[in-house]
Amino acid sequence: MKGTVLGIEGTAWNLSAAIVNEKDLIAEVTDTYKPATGGIHPREAAQHHAKYASYVVRKVLEEAKEKGVDVQDIDAISFSQGPGLGACLRTVATAARMLAISLDKPLIGVNHCLAHIEVGRWKTPATDPVTLYVSGANSQVLAYRRGKYRVFGETLDIGLGNAFDKFARNAGISHPGGPKIEELARKSTNYIPLPYVVKGMDFSFSGLSTAASEALRKHSLEDVCYSLQETAFAMVVEVTERALAHTGKNEVLLGGGVGANMRLREMLDIMCDERGASFYVPEKRFMGDNGAMIAYLGLLMYDSGNIIEIADSHVNPNFRPDDVMVNWIEDNQQEKEDVSN
Ligand code: ATP
Ligand code: FE2
Repeated sequence: MKGTVLGIEGTAWNLSAAIVNEKDLIAEVTDTYKPATGGIHPREAAQHHAKYASYVVRKVLEEAKEKGVDVQDIDAISFSQGPGLGACLRTVATAARMLAISLDKPLIGVNHCLAHIEVGRWKTPATDPVTLYVSGANSQVLAYRRGKYRVFGETLDIGLGNAFDKFARNAGISHPGGPKIEELARKSTNYIPLPYVVKGMDFSFSGLSTAASEALRKHSLEDVCYSLQETAFAMVVEVTERALAHTGKNEVLLGGGVGANMRLREMLDIMCDERGASFYVPEKRFMGDNGAMIAYLGLLMYDSGNIIEIADSHVNPNFRPDDVMVNWIEDNQQEKEDVSN
C-alpha cells in the first residue's frame, strides 16, 4: 500500500482533518463544536464546521509541511459520507469537494463506522476482529465476512452513549453524561434490576435509560449509575461474545467514545479471557471520532481504486457499513472455499 491522503471527519461534534501515509499519521487538527447548553444542535454544529473547515485544512497542511509532506504530495481527499447528522455531513462534503477540485485530486467517500474499525486494525495488533463500536449515536457489533463488514448486532433505537446522556440529563448531570456516570458508578456495588433488552442479536437502550431515570425516585444516584452501566454493558458484551462464537474469530476490537469506559473494557477483557480471545483497545485519540481514521480508510480505498465522481458524492445520514463492498481485504482460504461452495 502506498500514498498520502487528507481526510476530513465531521459527522457530529468533531471537525477533524488529518493527513496520513502508509507509515503513519502525519498531522491532525481538530476543532470541536461545544454547545452553550445541553446536547448537540445539528444546525449549530454544521455552522461550526462551516466556519472552521478552512482553518483545520490550512492548519493540517501547515503541520504536514513542517514534517516534510507538501500539499503536492497528497494523492486524494477523503471525507465522512455517513452515517451522521445531515447538516454536518453536507458541510464537510462541500469542503472536501472544493479541496479535491482545487487540488485536482480524486475524492473518496468513507463510511464512518468502517473507519473506526480500520483505524483499530491499523493502530492495534488486531487483524480480523469482531468490533464493538459504541458511541453517542451508534452501537454496532461488526465483523468482516466475504467482501463486507457485516453487522451482527446493533441498537434498535438509540446509541449507548446517547442513552447515558439522556439519563444524565434527567438526573441533572451536565453533558456529556458518560464519564460522570462512570465516576459515580465506581462508588456503588448495589445492583438494582433494570430492563435487559437483547432481541436476537440486537439490543435496545431507550427503555433502559427511562427505567434508570425512574429508579432515581427510590434509589441513590450512585446505585442507579452502577446498575445502568452493568446492565447496558452486559447486553453489548453478550452480543459481542455471540458474534465471536458465530464467526469463529478470536479477536475483539473496541471503538467509539463509550469505549473510554474502564468498566466496559474490564467486562470485555474478562469475556475474551474466558474464550481465549485477544482484546484490543486503540489509544484514546483513535477511539472517538477523529480525522485520522477517515484519512486512513481513505488511503485503503484509494489504493484499492474506490474513487468517486463529484456527481456521486452525495452524503447519506443512514449510510450502513454493510452497504460497502470491501475490496481492500484479501479473503482467507476458508472464505474463498465458502464462496465457491
Ligand atoms: P458518533 O456517534 O457519530 O460516532 P459521537 O460524537 O456521538 O459520534 P463519540 O465522540 O464517539 O460519539 O462519543 C461520545 C459519547 O461517548 C457520549 O455519549 C459520551 O457520553 C460517551 N462517553 C464518553 N466517555 C465515556 C465514558 N467514560 N463512559 C461512558 N460513556 C462515555
Ligand atoms: Fe464515531
